[in-house]
Amino acid sequence: MRGLIYICVIYSCVQIGQTGPCTFDERCQCSITKNGYVDVDCSRKKITRITNLPESAVFLNVSHNLIDCISKGIFEAAKHLLTLDLSFNRLSSINIATFNGLRKLRYLSLDNNKLVYSNHTFPTKIFTQMKFLSHLSLKNNNIRSSPCTSFPDKTIVDLSVLETLELDAKDCRENFLGKGFRSLRKLKSLVLENNLRFSKSKFTFINTKYLHYILLHTIDEILFTRKTFRKLRYLKHLEFSFDSKIRGIMSSLERLAWDLRFTSIETLKLGHSTMPLQTFRLYIFNKELYTKNITEIYVTDNSGKAGHFPVPIGAPPPTLHILDLSNNGLIRFTLDIGHITRLILKQNLQGDFLSTKSYFEKKPYGDFSLIKLIDISQNEIKDLHHSRLILNHH
Ligand SMILES: *[C@@H]1O[C@H](CO)[C@@H](O)[C@H](O)[C@H]1NC(C)=O
Ligand SMILES: *[C@@H]1O[C@H](CO)[C@@H](O)[C@H](O)[C@H]1NC(C)=O
Ligand SMILES: *[C@@H]1O[C@H](CO)[C@@H](O)[C@H](O)[C@H]1NC(C)=O
Repeated sequence: MRGLIYICVIYSCVQIGQTGPCTFDERCQCSITKNGYVDVDCSRKKITRITNLPESAVFLNVSHNLIDCISKGIFEAAKHLLTLDLSFNRLSSINIATFNGLRKLRYLSLDNNKLVYSNHTFPTKIFTQMKFLSHLSLKNNNIRSSPCTSFPDKTIVDLSVLETLELDAKDCRENFLGKGFRSLRKLKSLVLENNLRFSKSKFTFINTKYLHYILLHTIDEILFTRKTFRKLRYLKHLEFSFDSKIRGIMSSLERLAWDLRFTSIETLKLGHSTMPLQTFRLYIFNKELYTKNITEIYVTDNSGKAGHFPVPIGAPPPTLHILDLSNNGLIRFTLDIGHITRLILKQNLQGDFLSTKSYFEKKPYGDFSLIKLIDISQNEIKDLHHSRLILNHH
């Protein structure tokens, strides 16, 4: 009888897109997809165990629950599953057979559990069946472990089509992303999180040389040596972001600029550099990146408050369209505007300077209308120099 109702609910009585309580667990919401498969949302339901899943499930979200253990073989039936979100639970170990059956899975999140990075928690071969996994998230698991435990590379080695990986990063240089990472030839995006300090060296990324996108997110500080990023010839996006406002990038930005010449950099986002602004290195970026295809530079929230750019800083790279220098305590700023279309100078201290000076060192070449947006809000401006008015800005 129960079987009959289930079939009725899944295949005929419920219309496509319609959502209702699932028959296998009424706390969950099921909705039917166009092809007759089912998306299952069991998030935030105080669930402690995953029970018999419908075979037609393609999407399963069990995040924000109390799951501390996954029964062996539970996913054997869920052989069409493409997305599995197990984040924000209490998992502390994964069995060799936990993921059996997930042959089509594309997305797996295990963020915010208690999965310490070791080959005890993540035994080798647990990912062997996941031949199509392209996104794996393992953040906020390895937080309390001893220093320098990197993710077991003999376990990750099977994910040969993985494109995006999100990991906790520990402060270990040489062997952080071990040899097994060389098998991830499709790995393009790497998000590294850390609750203390990152320290990177020329060995950090040697096994992940196909990266296009790197985001380093930390509470405290980031250090790197020369050559850290040099081997990343496909790198287009590099971003450092911080939770606290106290610390930040502790290494010289020159090192970074030199390395970036060997990459394909397009977007650079640097928050919280701790360099004093008197020696602010925007001109170094201009010089080193002049021949690159860089389109966006964000150097914001500098803690070495109050300063000005040494003059002249030179023309920015011709490809640069966005320059954001928000919240840097700048008291003076002038620039050969080049092809910049968005210039963001908000939250600085340029009120006095802008009352007598234009913020462009030279007239932009050719057409003034290239500039679409200039943001000089929160600069304690009382009066503006008249030359600004010939600009077509909004
Ligand atoms: C799962 O549900 C949570 C909470 O409702 C949500 O934040 C998350 O984005 C969902 N996961 C996926 C993969 O959609
Ligand atoms: C697990 O890691 C330890 C050291 O990190 C190593 O000695 C051991 O051989 C590994 N075991 C397996 C099964 O890979
Ligand atoms: C800039 O982009 C063009 C077109 O995509 C490409 O041909 C060229 O090699 C790039 N130059 C650099 C320095 O990356």
